[in-house]
Amino acid sequence: MMDFKKYTIYDCSIVHLPKIEKREGNITPIENKKDIPFDIRRIYYLYDVPGGEARGGHAHKKLHQFLIAASGSFDVLLDDGKNKKVVNLNRPYIALHIVPGLWRELLNFSSGSICLVLASEIYDEDDYIRNYKDFINFKGSSK
Ligand code: TYD
Repeated sequence: MMDFKKYTIYDCSIVHLPKIEKREGNITPIENKKDIPFDIRRIYYLYDVPGGEARGGHAHKKLHQFLIAASGSFDVLLDDGKNKKVVNLNRPYIALHIVPGLWRELLNFSSGSICLVLASEIYDEDDYIRNYKDFINFKGSSK
């Protein structure tokens, strides 16, 4: 629970993934421990997002995630209760590491885009904070 409270948007980072360039097309491999700082316990991807739709709109207590625009582009709004920033993802070899304890929204999906997510834990609804007021209360209660 401590992790949830201490992290800010400045703990999130852009990670350049390996890119093997070939005439017949490129490859980006991601290996546990080498290219990603947590064990991957789950992979999921968002696709067929209708135009104008937003995803996310929640925080996680323990979960670390790598978000990758495997195809197309989208924006990630990060919010730690004090600071906000928007990160645009639009390359399959760039990942955004989202640490625990941040409110996030995914917006402005381009047509046909795919958001690939590598996650440090299996799905657990108890890890979610889905109400923004609850999130602010959680973050504030550490200080
Ligand atoms: P949710 O994480 O709320 O979607 P988003 O934040 O992208 O809008 O998940 C939507 C639904 O899918 C929710 O009912 C739980 C389910 N779900 C799983 O069962 N397993 C998963 O790994 C994920 C990410 C979601």
